Amino acid sequence: MTSPIAVVVLAAGAGTRMKSVLPKVLHPLAGWPMLRHVLDNVRRLRPTRTIGVISPGAALVAEAFAPHPTVVQRRPLGTGDAAKAALGALEGHRGPVLIVFGDAPLVTPASMRRLVAACRRRGAAVGVLGFVAQDPSPYGRLVVHGGVLEKIVESKDANATEKTIDFCNSGVMCLDGRLVGRLLREIGNRNAKREFYLTDAVAIARAAGHKAIAVAGEEGEFQGINSRAELAVAERALQQRLRAAALASGVTLTDPETVWLAADTKLAADVTIGPNVHFGPGVSVARGAEIKAFCDITGARIGRRAVVGPFARIRPGSDVGADAHIGNFVELKATHMGRGAKANHLTYLGDSDIGARSNIGAGTITVNYDGYGKHRTIIDADVFIGSNSALVAPVRIGRGANVTAGSVITEDVPGGAVAFGRARQVTKQGRAAPLRAKLRARAAVKKAGATRAKKK
Ligand code: UD1
Ligand code: CA
Repeated sequence: MTSPIAVVVLAAGAGTRMKSVLPKVLHPLAGWPMLRHVLDNVRRLRPTRTIGVISPGAALVAEAFAPHPTVVQRRPLGTGDAAKAALGALEGHRGPVLIVFGDAPLVTPASMRRLVAACRRRGAAVGVLGFVAQDPSPYGRLVVHGGVLEKIVESKDANATEKTIDFCNSGVMCLDGRLVGRLLREIGNRNAKREFYLTDAVAIARAAGHKAIAVAGEEGEFQGINSRAELAVAERALQQRLRAAALASGVTLTDPETVWLAADTKLAADVTIGPNVHFGPGVSVARGAEIKAFCDITGARIGRRAVVGPFARIRPGSDVGADAHIGNFVELKATHMGRGAKANHLTYLGDSDIGARSNIGAGTITVNYDGYGKHRTIIDADVFIGSNSALVAPVRIGRGANVTAGSVITEDVPGGAVAFGRARQVTKQGRAAPLRAKLRARAAVKKAGATRAKKK
């Protein structure tokens, strides 16, 4: 039996470079707040506790950590000080303590597991994930001699020789739970930034005769997010991973680079996604379904073999049944489309239930909002709604009923009935030519008047 893992997530930095009222760790990436990615990644290590370190008054961040507890770092005095704030919450924990940053959502569970396993195997008091950086200048450098990690030197404190080191600190650190209190409390702030550096734990452990190690990983996982530009870079990286995973699991993406997925998008095998499709959070697409170009889908289920788009918008709470068709310029909101139902063109279906095999004609609108409340439209199975109909909710159209084109339906239509909700057409035989003559004469009079006025 291995001892349990505890995780500490540091998220009390100021994040000023984002220039945002929204805390940095709540900025969205692949449809999730950044912090949710971090929490989802660490969850896979099955820690017995996860503790968030936040700044004072960061209620939204605390909420994002829930159900995990948070502790407050009173002033942003550095990563070492932030980690120390979690010591109370680590009371009694004796296994590895993994410290990660809230603004590094790309670190994979596999890398974290590798670090923890290496620390256990080699009996290290401190271990860090390191990487060879293209540009090491912003990072702490790992000073390694003969396979032993001697210390970490922050960029601002590095001497000329240390500055040439390109093996850098990712920020992910694993500490022995039995030593963590002693190591962190010894960290001081006599350095270039007057900050308490978590990275000093390495030299402190070494001085006390303990072992420290560095485990190498890929640079792509360790880019932190400090600015909007870095957020965009991370989004790209994450999208690449999600697209690759979709392709590997048997999904066709005709133009992968233009498909935007959410972290939780579930695509079954044999799903086909056309170009320029965007998924918000909470979407699942069942086997054999096809999403054509330029669709936007959020919070919805798409059933087996259903066909959606091109140019469809499916909003939260929608459920498209098996074999259903949603065509171009169709918007669904909180709508259940029954099996084999069709809405092929230019339609808004909101707060509605569409029965199996029912056909919704072009230009149909469910009038679900009266300016104050939302109301439901219920359409039973095998109904035909003629084009350009307005269904004023709450309203119910019974099984097999037929609503004629251009109707405004304000009352329930019983099953099997035909409903006309429009003025009856009037046709006057042979009246087209006289009507034209009359209109022509009227136009001539008007033109003559205008010419006279101009001459004056
Ligand atoms: C840190 C590391 C550096 C490493 C780099 C990787 C230290 C001293 N340096 O530098 O070796 O190469 O990350 O990206 O650890 N935070 C707090 N409270 C604080 C300060 C920071 O909670 O008082 C949190 C931040 O919210 C952030 C994380 O700690 O999530 C990292 O802080 P940051 O200031 O960005 O560290 P770096 O200077 O980038
Ligand atoms: Ca940083």
